[in-house]
Amino acid sequence: MKNRLSRIINPKTGHTVMLAVDHPYFQGAIEGLVSPRETIWPLLPYADALMIARGMLRNTMDAGMETPVILRVSGGISILKEDLSDEEITTSVREAIRLNASAVALSVYVGSPHEKQTLVNLSNLVNECEEYGMPVLAVTAVGREMARDARYLGLASRIAAELGAHIVKTYYCEGFEKVVEGCPVPVVIAGGKKIPEQESLKMAYDALQAGAVGLDYGRNVFQSPDSVAMIRSLRAVVQENYTADEALELFNSLKGEKKKD
Ligand code: 5RP
Repeated sequence: MKNRLSRIINPKTGHTVMLAVDHPYFQGAIEGLVSPRETIWPLLPYADALMIARGMLRNTMDAGMETPVILRVSGGISILKEDLSDEEITTSVREAIRLNASAVALSVYVGSPHEKQTLVNLSNLVNECEEYGMPVLAVTAVGREMARDARYLGLASRIAAELGAHIVKTYYCEGFEKVVEGCPVPVVIAGGKKIPEQESLKMAYDALQAGAVGLDYGRNVFQSPDSVAMIRSLRAVVQENYTADEALELFNSLKGEKKKD
């Protein structure tokens, strides 16, 4: 378990830059992931881990890829459904081991119609994963109607940790230090919908200041026209203690480099 965790959270810094590309498991071929190999491949040297579902891993990645994998193992819904919470475990732990995953990930929907089902999914997954030393990352997914505030995200994160999640992924919000304070396992933040790079870098910096161990950004990296510059600048915040302003300066200089090529 510790060995797998140390592949995805750098033991020297205690921090991590995960790259999330698992979105198609319920959203299909979204912008940036239509031809995922082209988008993802140049980003991999700057990611500590890649969060991905089985199909894309199997069909677009190389067996020789060195980036540790966090395998998305929940699903069963599509973006067409009003209620996204009706998820089950879709990929076995045995398959995760066969694919040499360093962790598995699922979503829990606290406060949603299928709250209990997703929390039992988490509990059962942890029970099985403990037998093999496989870390479980729980995503505190937010239903369309749920607020993204510290009270709700703090509740969902703590419940996920209590049921045995080894890492919690949640959203950044005002008062985020309260979410981290109440969660006894490492917390990473999702990026959410694409926002300007400056705001996204600031959110990363603020989350780290509030105690997050890192990021699991997706769209704010792979939907940026300068995705490599973006992940390198986020990495500077997470792994090299850059401030948001310093990271923006880096982003602009890397963007410039790309234009000169
Ligand atoms: C969906 C997920 C995604 O990985 C998550 O949303 C991260 O991506 P983004 O930064 O684009 O929000 O877990 O449930």
